Amino acid sequence: MPQHFDFLVIGSGIAGLSYATKLAIHFEAQNRPVRIAVITKVRADETNTKYAQGGIAAVWAEEDSFEKHIEDTMIAGDFLSNREVVEIVVREAPERIRELIDYGTRFDKEDDGAYDLAKEGGHSDHRILHFKDITGAEIERALLEKAQSLPSIQIFTHYYAVDLLTRHHLGETVHRYDTDNRCFGAYVLDTQTGRVEKFLAKTTLLATGGIGNVYQSTTNPTIATGDGIAMAYRAKSVCKDMEFIQFHPTALYEPGKKPSFLISEAVRGFGGILKNMKGETFMENYDTRLSLAPRDIVARAIDSEMKKSGDPHVYLDVTHLDFEKFVEHFPNITAYCRDNLGIDVRKDYIPVVPAQHYMCGGIKVNEYGQTNINFLYAAGECSCTGLHGANRLASNSLLEAVVFGHRAYLKTVENFDKAAIPDNLPEWNDAGTTHPEELVLVTEMQRELESIMSNYVGIVRTNRRMKRALDRLELIYLEHEELYRQSKVSSRICELRNMIEVAYLVIKAAMARHDNRGLHFNLDIEKQETA
Ligand code: FAD
Ligand code: SIN
Repeated sequence: MPQHFDFLVIGSGIAGLSYATKLAIHFEAQNRPVRIAVITKVRADETNTKYAQGGIAAVWAEEDSFEKHIEDTMIAGDFLSNREVVEIVVREAPERIRELIDYGTRFDKEDDGAYDLAKEGGHSDHRILHFKDITGAEIERALLEKAQSLPSIQIFTHYYAVDLLTRHHLGETVHRYDTDNRCFGAYVLDTQTGRVEKFLAKTTLLATGGIGNVYQSTTNPTIATGDGIAMAYRAKSVCKDMEFIQFHPTALYEPGKKPSFLISEAVRGFGGILKNMKGETFMENYDTRLSLAPRDIVARAIDSEMKKSGDPHVYLDVTHLDFEKFVEHFPNITAYCRDNLGIDVRKDYIPVVPAQHYMCGGIKVNEYGQTNINFLYAAGECSCTGLHGANRLASNSLLEAVVFGHRAYLKTVENFDKAAIPDNLPEWNDAGTTHPEELVLVTEMQRELESIMSNYVGIVRTNRRMKRALDRLELIYLEHEELYRQSKVSSRICELRNMIEVAYLVIKAAMARHDNRGLHFNLDIEKQETA
């Protein structure tokens, strides 16, 4: 039996929960009963949001200004950001953060009661609100509690969205740039029963987060497999800026560990200094902003130092800092380093390497989070609003998610009465498929995919590496398609299908870019430019 909802929200991170919460508050205030389904593929709080450390950026201090935050965002994005969108996000930030506080989010305060504002790479002022070094966990906790208190919201954990329902499922032909396509919900797999159900909804929001697991090392948890981007692309959405993959400069060096533990950029904002394995500083050879240059520059500098020396990592030195204050700000990082690697940050340097961290591109949306498919919205990391351009400024991601969660909610309410669901959408059809006998194929294909993306489409690219990546990916794609066609769906098989799709979009976008901007760095272009 299909399940009928007014709103389907795919994802329970900051983007999905803030959108669902706003809708529920709005309709409950009007005494209009609505059904909002929030689905999440594992536990409700297992999201990229939960792992965010540094904080959320907003102009808060007297001496700071919107103009400075706008300029910092434009500079970090290598001037490929959409200035109109940057202005919207920066100017709406304080109001959205006040709402998070109203929902119960705590941010650290100074002794005088003022919010303690941190500084991170690329920011010209102190403007990062944070809760210790576990800001994301605090936001996720508060939003989940709020959402769970609202009767209109039903949270479905261990439900996996397989594909969106669109006009295509009515037997109609739709093309990617058509403006009359329409979304009616999604086919959703109950991962505990193995049954695929039709979740019909008048409006659907994709808030499925990042793509980290396409790479060998990433700071993202295992849920980050690019599902929303791949589903939207299959449904004929437009994706944009997919070549701009952000590598965080300072993931803790723990070979073979996935996900990588992050050493927040706020540690460098607090005075941490990057050093090579000989103990020498090196950032002065790359950028006048030293360890606090934007991420693309710092990650490339570290990559270059490691390649020159052959060393497996560099160091972050915090030994000169006030230990008590350091622990107060970074209790989680201090404890993790001590408990897992025996590192005493008072006297030991922290070994760090860059790791995939964030997808700047994604499903193209307008300034209200609308995709090119009617009644389909996207917000958060899976979307491309134009805010980040070629490189995201630190702590602008949680902010973008909450601002666009709000803007998508405004448009959803405006268009709600125009939405309708046809009654002839087909049930999921898996006739002729079976459970695959062994999943070792999937594990191997996943390993190969990660290796291709890390070796050929990482921080430094070349034309040859990208061509090789595309050729190799084609083989994995064909092999996996055959397996997919024959198999009953499972989240593992679907995730790999989605990651292959996302990898394809990243490679094609990277090959299509003929200049080096922000996070996209192609040695062949560099050679041409300096010849
Ligand atoms: P997420 O929070 O990732 O939520 C995704 C949701 O979608 C999950 O509930 C998942 O289960 C669900 N989902 C995915 N696919 C499916 C499917 N097929 N079916 C059902 N459900 C699905 N940003 C900042 O601004 N400041 C920071 O300090 C910061 N620190 C970070 C530190 C780390 C270690 C990491 C990994 C990221 C950090 N970021 C930070 C980035 C930021 O956390 C994320 O970009 C942001 O939280 C994304 O939120 P989201 O709501 O878009 O997605
Ligand atoms: C960090 O704490 O370094 C992550 C901040 C971010 O990704 O914006």
